[in-house]
Amino acid sequence: MRPDGLPMTAPAAGLPERVTIYEVGARDGLQNEATVVPVQVKVEFLARLAAAGLSVLEATSFVHPSWVPQLADASELLGRLVRAEGVDYPVLVPNERGLDRALDAGVEHIAIFASATETFAERNLNRSLDSQFAMFSPVVRRALGAGLRVRGYVSMCFGDPWEGAVAPEQVAAVGRRLVELGCWQLSLGDTIGTGTPGHVDAVLDACVAAGVSSSALAVHFHDTYGQALANTLAALRRGVTTVDASAGGLGGCPYAESATGNLATEDLVWMLDGLGIGHGVNLEELAGTSAWMAERLGRPSPSRVVRALRG
Ligand code: HMG
Ligand code: MG
Repeated sequence: MRPDGLPMTAPAAGLPERVTIYEVGARDGLQNEATVVPVQVKVEFLARLAAAGLSVLEATSFVHPSWVPQLADASELLGRLVRAEGVDYPVLVPNERGLDRALDAGVEHIAIFASATETFAERNLNRSLDSQFAMFSPVVRRALGAGLRVRGYVSMCFGDPWEGAVAPEQVAAVGRRLVELGCWQLSLGDTIGTGTPGHVDAVLDACVAAGVSSSALAVHFHDTYGQALANTLAALRRGVTTVDASAGGLGGCPYAESATGNLATEDLVWMLDGLGIGHGVNLEELAGTSAWMAERLGRPSPSRVVRALRG
């Protein structure tokens, strides 16, 4: 370790020069908390994340408030948000009602979220695998017409707690349909964290074989089995340059019980710093923010790097 508290830099071959960190702590993290975090704490959390240098902050979700009460304050949150210069604040939107609410709140970037499996489409969206697209189609058409950007998530890309194994070709087929609808980026979700690096190669290769360019792919790893960082390195070696992560490792999915927190942003930043890959984040400030949030939530951060830096 260096005297400034950062890792020694030792670049490795075959990796990108820069990575965009797509921070999901305020959405994926807080949607899974047992209690509803006060809106003013969320506003401060987002302000601190922006001050730490994160340039993409997924802020909240315009889903049905009784499905995810933790984010029922989405409109109020965006009303109070002090938008930092140069920071993108995407939000989740499942359907036209959600889009109406997001447009009223002045968003510029939304994310729709599809399932790669039948069972999770039903559990998470109350739709069949096929009918989820009928729900998304007018959302994307109207959002693009209003000048918004639309990201697409695919969940259960590396296994499903009800259906077991999920074929990479099935993931790629769902992803391809999202790109055909008009999504500019596709985030591949390991919702329950069961993937391993070779599996990441297989899913990314299937997406590229289905016609999705690797520059349009992002990865979204939950760290349930401790594989998120290894999986991220595998994805970087395959040319992916956008990585989803959540500050302090907050996270999960209320409709997939075996899902735990996302890859912790601090753990990602430590690895990127060690590899000499640019990302723009100040690790000390970020870890301070996660420690501050952990105090508000009343339990320590699961991030190994936050624990190492903050004791
Ligand atoms: P539904 O019950 O089928 O909805 O839920 P509906 O279309 O039948 O509408 C029923 C009523 O709800 C109507 O009101 C609608 O207006 C209202 P009524 O006419 O009866 O008075 N309604 C809404 N109200 C406010 N906002 C809305 C909205 N939509 C309908 N957006 C629905 C379908 C999609 C809404 C529901 O299933 C839902 O909200 N699901 C969201 C679940 C969720 O948020 N899961 C977590 C996010 S996904 C995730 O975490 C994975 C990810 O991180 C990637 C990974 O890890 O893999 C992204
Ligand atoms: Mg997630």
